[in-house]
Amino acid sequence: MDYLDRLPATVRRADIEAVLRDRHQWAGQQKKGFLRYRRPAEFLARFRAENVDCSEGVVHIGHADEVSPPIRQQIKDQLKAFMPWRKGPFSVFGIEIDAEWRSERKWRRVLPALPDLSGAVVADIGCNNGYYLFRLSSHQPLLALGFEPSVHHYFCFQALNAMAGCTNLAADLLGVEQIGLFPETFDLVLLMGIIYHRSSPIDALRDINAALKPGGRLIVESQAIPGDDPIALFPQKTYAKVPGTYFVPTGACLVNWLRRAGFSAVELFDAHPMSSAEQRRTEWMVFESFEDFIDQSDPSKTVEGYPAPWRVFLSAEK
Ligand SMILES: C[S@@+](CC[C@H](N)C(=O)[O-])C[C@H]1O[C@@H](n2cnc3c(N)ncnc32)[C@H](O)[C@@H]1O
Repeated sequence: MDYLDRLPATVRRADIEAVLRDRHQWAGQQKKGFLRYRRPAEFLARFRAENVDCSEGVVHIGHADEVSPPIRQQIKDQLKAFMPWRKGPFSVFGIEIDAEWRSERKWRRVLPALPDLSGAVVADIGCNNGYYLFRLSSHQPLLALGFEPSVHHYFCFQALNAMAGCTNLAADLLGVEQIGLFPETFDLVLLMGIIYHRSSPIDALRDINAALKPGGRLIVESQAIPGDDPIALFPQKTYAKVPGTYFVPTGACLVNWLRRAGFSAVELFDAHPMSSAEQRRTEWMVFESFEDFIDQSDPSKTVEGYPAPWRVFLSAEK
C-alpha cells in the first residue's frame, strides 16, 4: 500500500487502510477459490523482465530469450491459471496472450481524449488485469491506480506487474463504491465498461466527480443502445447474456447523465457498433463470446431481442 504515499493529503488514508486490511485478510485465506490465483501470482513474481514496452498495442513484458524453454513452459502454465483472459493482448517472455477483447482497439479510441498525464494521479475503475494501466504507464503518471474488487483479476495484475516492474502502477481490491474515500484526488478517472453495471449510475458519476481534482477529467466508455433519443434500456434480466446489467443508455442519455451529475465540457467523442472483430473466443478465453450473444437470424438484436450493443466514448470535466 506504499502507493498511498503518492496520493494527495485529501485522501482518508486511515479509512482506505481499514478497508484494504479487511479485503487483504479475506483474499489471503487458505481457500481454494483464492489459492488458485494467489499461488500462480506468487510463482510468476519470481521472474523480473529486463525488457518491458507498454507503448504499443501488445504489452510486452520480457523477451523470449530472457528465460529458458522449460522455464517459459512453466510460466505459460501459470499464466493459464488466470484463464479466462478477458483483456489484452500481452506478450510475456515471448508467450503471446490473445485475450477475448482486443483492448488495444479501445485504447486507440481513448488516446485522443487523454490530457497530458506526466506527473498525474489517475484512477482506472474496474481495471481488470491492468491492460490499460500498463498502457497508461508509458504516459509517465505519478501514479495510475486500478480499482478491482475481483481476486482473479487483482492477482493477475499483481503477477504481470511483478514481472514488469512498472513503479508508477498499482491496483487494489477496491470497487467504485470506495471512490468516496478519495476526495479531490485524481487528475483523470477512467470508467470503462462499468456504468451499465451500476443500479444508480448518477450517484456513481456524482461520487466520481467528487473524487476528481478541480479541472480533472473523466473518460467514460459504455455499452450503449443505438439511437439519438436520451433514453436507456432496462433489461428484464440480462443484456447480451450479461447479468448485472441495469441501465444501457444511448450516447445522448449518457451526455445528460454526466451533465446532471455536475460535469461540464461533456463530449461524445466516439461511437461504434460492437462486433466479433473486438470480442471473440480465443485459446486464452474458451467460453462464449460476442457471436453467442447476438441473434444469428437478426444481428441487429441481442439473443434477448434487445437492440444489439454499441459502444460510446465520452469525456467530461469537473
Ligand atoms: C466489463 S469489465 C471492464 C474492464 C475494463 N475497464 C475495460 O474497459 O475493458 C468490468 C470490470 O469491473 C470489475 N468490477 C466488478 N465490480 C466492480 C465494482 N463494484 N467496482 C469496480 N469494478 C468492478 C470487474 O471485475 C471487471 O474487471
